[in-house]
Amino acid sequence: MKSEEARERIEALREEITHHNYRYYVLDDPEISDARYDRLMRELEDLEKRFPQWQSPLSPTQRVGHPPLERFQTVTHAIPMLSLSNAMDRGEVVEFDDRVRRFLRRKEAVEYVAEPKMDGLAVEIVYMDGNMTVGSTRGDGVSGEDVTLNLMTIRSIPTRLIQRHGVPVPRRLDVRGEVFMRREAFAELNRQRERDGEPLFANPRNAAAGSIRQLDSSVTAGRPLEIYFYGVGVVEGFRFSTQWEILETLPLWGLPVNPRIRRCASIQHAIEFYDELMEERHRFPYEIDGVVIKVNDLELQSRLGEKSRSPRWALAYKFPAHQETTRILDIRVQVGRTGALTPVAVMEPVMVGGVEVTRATLHNLDEIERKDIRIGDTVLIQRAGDVIPEIVQVIDLKRTGQERRFIMPESCPVCGFKVDRPPGEAVHRCANKNCPAQLKETIKHFCSKRAMDMDGLGDKIVNQLVDKGLVRDVSDLYHLRLEQLAGLERLAEKSGQNIVNAIEGSKQTTLARLIYALGIRYVGEHLAHVLASDYGSIHRLMEASEEELEGINEVGPQVAHSVHTFFRQESNRRVIQRLLDAGVKPSAEEARAAMEHPLAGKTVVFTGTLDAFSRDEARTRVESVGGKVSSSVSAKTDFVVAGVDPGSKYLKARDLGVAILSEADFLRLLGG
Ligand code: IVH
Repeated sequence: MKSEEARERIEALREEITHHNYRYYVLDDPEISDARYDRLMRELEDLEKRFPQWQSPLSPTQRVGHPPLERFQTVTHAIPMLSLSNAMDRGEVVEFDDRVRRFLRRKEAVEYVAEPKMDGLAVEIVYMDGNMTVGSTRGDGVSGEDVTLNLMTIRSIPTRLIQRHGVPVPRRLDVRGEVFMRREAFAELNRQRERDGEPLFANPRNAAAGSIRQLDSSVTAGRPLEIYFYGVGVVEGFRFSTQWEILETLPLWGLPVNPRIRRCASIQHAIEFYDELMEERHRFPYEIDGVVIKVNDLELQSRLGEKSRSPRWALAYKFPAHQETTRILDIRVQVGRTGALTPVAVMEPVMVGGVEVTRATLHNLDEIERKDIRIGDTVLIQRAGDVIPEIVQVIDLKRTGQERRFIMPESCPVCGFKVDRPPGEAVHRCANKNCPAQLKETIKHFCSKRAMDMDGLGDKIVNQLVDKGLVRDVSDLYHLRLEQLAGLERLAEKSGQNIVNAIEGSKQTTLARLIYALGIRYVGEHLAHVLASDYGSIHRLMEASEEELEGINEVGPQVAHSVHTFFRQESNRRVIQRLLDAGVKPSAEEARAAMEHPLAGKTVVFTGTLDAFSRDEARTRVESVGGKVSSSVSAKTDFVVAGVDPGSKYLKARDLGVAILSEADFLRLLGG
């Protein structure tokens, strides 16, 4: 190939790849498979290597990063990047709107644009004649760090703007946005770091910020970063008249904008938008920490102007914080159903995400040592969704030297029996099969909603039943009498009767529920369904040999061994017999029917946000009809359900030819 010919091909490839980046990152609607995209990229890389005279820093291949810099240069923003004033409740939002209208001497409503407040790192990128020239962090607002090379490694940032729908690319465009990392990508990055023995990032925001502020841009290139643009600085050769127009125009040039934005006719609509997002936020594939409300009309914006550090025309309406700091008063040990000893931090009460938190699980001793958590430490804690709060990190600066290290007890804090740590396991266990703590947890699991579903039998009641010796195994529940319940603390007669009814009602159950309720190690709801539909009766399951169990699809040696050992134990067999004698009637029909369900035995992967369910609910629904949910797409996947804003799993599914369902398809399929 001659040099000139190569140049033409290189140009064509760059244009084609830029187009596919646009389809993928901006429209979220790719036209080609990942594999085909990779082939184009490889061809371009190859040509650029052979014809270095046509190399360009703006080429889409330059997403690989460059060798380390000594330090960052400083970039002064042509127009300062301001911060936002915050509102914590709707009163403050209404006051903001009042101030805006007073300032503008307006009686009628002002139109706003509401956008998710992305929790990442703010950057500015300058495009001259459509070419990316300089990218910088916000810094102190006046000037930031030159992170051009790092930003160039982010694939959703175009190095060249393209004219589309006849909207001309401005001579100069300073565009601003938030670099962020999706939750899933963040979790995967941390898993990788854990495997490599590297320190973990506390949250996606820190991971994104740390990745951008890297002197070695080849490190940034390996990080799963993305960007959404939300505003502009200097613009030459184009006139915007509203914020909404900015958000609609940027994508035409190839700059991704968060699709979850709204134009609001009045402040009330913006507040409604906040309420919606607040409800959805845990299902978002990335973290948001509030809603940014901006006056839509740019003319009005400039009349409003700014205060010292923030504009008068915008407001950040924040969600209650996910993370807070507090102090560890003590570390106690809880004994679980399997005898596992879990250290739990008791903390000074603090509000996190609108809920008072006093305890956080520390998982196990390794975790405490890895994070070097001590009694008396000041710590950063977080609550994500409905998940149990956890400690993110110790705040070293607050150490006084008075902190005490936690020591794992050598005997069980509940029954005093010896504690073992089986070789190769992270967990310490109480070796006493009859430990009351284990018994309590076993019974709580048995009664729980997903198991035998005995409404009203909460933790406090179960604890008393065990402490008073009224229940020594799960079958005793079916022999409880109303007078015995009436003797319990904090239990009115009415709820005593309700409990008796709930216990009675639980006798009509499914085989899958009963198997799950027994609490056999490694047997969750899904495997319980599998076993129920394969065996059809508890007696047949009880007699199954280990080899036979292993022959079942989805049952591996570990599960087979665990199930077999469970049913060989005389005490367990006796309990099951007593359950049946007491009238528990597990029917296999429902399990069978479930197995005839179109999703039965199928593996489903979710990507993107679903409207009708949280991920957890969706999982439960799939499992309840005998299907299985997996987190990654492979040739074994039967269906990928793509919600709003699907991730790379969508592409992978297309590549592998896996059936892709919309949420509506999925609902239809679930319905039978
Ligand atoms: S507008 C003057 N819009 O919030 C307007 N900011 O405290 C300034 N942020 O540093 C920013 N999402 O990093 C705006 N949709 C959004 C945003 C957003 C996140 C961040 C940004 C900025 C901080 C302001």
